[in-house]
Amino acid sequence: MQAEQLPVHNTISQAAALIRASDHVVAMTGAGMSVESGIPTFRGKDGLWTRYGQPPMDGFKRFREDPVGWWQKQVNRQMDAHMIELRDALLAAQPHAGHHALVTLERAGVLHHVITQNIDGLDLKAGLENLIEIHGNRSRLRCVGCGRRTSLGDFVPQEPPEPCDGCGDVVKFDTVMFGEPMPSDTMTAAREQIDRATCVLAIGTSASVRPASGLLWIAKSQGATIVEINPFETKLTSICDVVIRTTAGEALGHLAGMFTQSAAERPDGPVSEVRYGA
Ligand code: APR
Repeated sequence: MQAEQLPVHNTISQAAALIRASDHVVAMTGAGMSVESGIPTFRGKDGLWTRYGQPPMDGFKRFREDPVGWWQKQVNRQMDAHMIELRDALLAAQPHAGHHALVTLERAGVLHHVITQNIDGLDLKAGLENLIEIHGNRSRLRCVGCGRRTSLGDFVPQEPPEPCDGCGDVVKFDTVMFGEPMPSDTMTAAREQIDRATCVLAIGTSASVRPASGLLWIAKSQGATIVEINPFETKLTSICDVVIRTTAGEALGHLAGMFTQSAAERPDGPVSEVRYGA
């Protein structure tokens, strides 16, 4: 029976067995990880771009041509409608059970690193320690010249920020715009984690935006097992070893439960024999 057709509790047990058999587990999360926190995805059903159309792919070039004008639009809420919807959702969002489950798995020693494509900072708010924000974080500023980062905390800029006090160049949100080179530090760190991974959990990502998504195929080519957690099929599905067809919150909540049961509670036999939700 294809993993796609198995009942969810079977695939969760299978995923738990792969995790338990691995010595370095890495999660790659995407926008679907934050849907249960009220943040829309970009693609797929109800995605921002499904509803508003894909934005131009030269955002970084337009920012560099007129950073002051770009910031004026930001502080005066004159951005594109999809950016206003995303920004309002980011400001209101709090971590959900899935984010807390990732922290539980990290603290249980079975999840070694998380690479997130999300800029919402919810992993940090939930208390995750080993995290790479490969597309940055909306609550930080970054200098385009020297790369210096400063934290905004919960502060929302009310006027264009001052130039970098290190090198004097312009600063932008520490998020990767389309057409912007990926910061080399986060990309290098992410690749190092993928090279060590023997199991990768692809959670809530359409696996459609390189270079981040390319890391998933690299992991597979290097012998890692791949577990997909996504209510819908993606272009990654066909290379996955286990496919859990449900939401991030549900799947991760159950997985965390399987690694925090005390020995007394856990039925006899290895995890893979445990029938979740029997
Ligand atoms: N739980 C898990 N996955 C979900 C959920 C949910 N509750 N709801 C939706 N999904 C899945 C969708 O099926 C889809 O496959 O989340 C995925 C979201 O895909 P995208 O919107 O393409 O988001 P992502 O893969 O993170 O995009 C990568 O594209 O535009 C850039 O910078 C942006 O970081 C983003 C990158």
